[in-house]
Amino acid sequence: MDRYRAANRDLWEAWTPHNLTSPLYDVEGFVAGRETLCPVELAGVGQVAGRRLLHLQCHFGLGTLSWVRHGAIATGVDFAPSAIAAARELSERTGLPATFVESDLYALPEHLEGEFDVVFTSHGVLGWLPDLEGWARVIAHYLAPGGLLFLAEAHPVAMLFDETRDDRELRLRYPYFHRDEPFVLPVKGSYAAPEAEVSGTEHFWIHPVSDILGALLRAGLRIESFDEHPFMAWSHFPWMVQRPDGHWEMPPDAPELPLMLSLRARAP
Ligand SMILES: C[S@@+](CC[C@H](N)C(=O)[O-])C[C@H]1O[C@@H](n2cnc3c(N)ncnc32)[C@H](O)[C@@H]1O
Repeated sequence: MDRYRAANRDLWEAWTPHNLTSPLYDVEGFVAGRETLCPVELAGVGQVAGRRLLHLQCHFGLGTLSWVRHGAIATGVDFAPSAIAAARELSERTGLPATFVESDLYALPEHLEGEFDVVFTSHGVLGWLPDLEGWARVIAHYLAPGGLLFLAEAHPVAMLFDETRDDRELRLRYPYFHRDEPFVLPVKGSYAAPEAEVSGTEHFWIHPVSDILGALLRAGLRIESFDEHPFMAWSHFPWMVQRPDGHWEMPPDAPELPLMLSLRARAP
């Protein structure tokens, strides 16, 4: 694993215990039956009862275990050991059976065998990955013939603007097209627990839409649907407004931007 991903894994190790007790993740609510999958994910993946589902970058497994509640035979993968340990504990505690694998995404074929009817990944995943060609090859490796990839992710256009400004000005901060070198940001606290005593460094990449679609096409997948949404899964700008369905959108007087994308792709 390169030094950027190793540093990111350290950061996720530091974040995980704080995220586990944060109101954002509301683990107790999940244990009591709260649905953690958003309407776009539920509609995009469809029926999973009896299907083998692989959840990439599953964090501590809330999404994975939610798919188990919907009847999936689920496997979650993440490179943060404390997240995988917490996911296994949650699986035990809730009685929702799932397999959890600790692995860097790119090294997964060294750690997990088998094929899946659905590969699922969403909300805060692609920015941690330096290379979407390798990501798409891992997905293609695991999909059974005719199997479905579902991705929901923050739209790269939304990622271009300075997210720290609270005066509602959308000021360009990052370039759109791919760069091999990551953007490097010092981090204090966790996105889910801003007051947490964590300091570290975040290394992230912005992937243009053409790279996301192109990588999947080059890995041999057929893109079945691609959508852009004027809402997203978290409040990327401090002044966004939460909708009754849990998604976040721009206030009525702000310009509409593509804030989230989602897609379905099929293995041949
Ligand atoms: C924001 S979470 C996404 C999951 C879910 N949407 C959530 O909010 O809990 C991103 C996850 O990606 C994982 N991750 C980042 N880079 C990874 C890599 N190279 N291989 C495997 N997991 C990775 C992190 O450990 C983290 O748990």
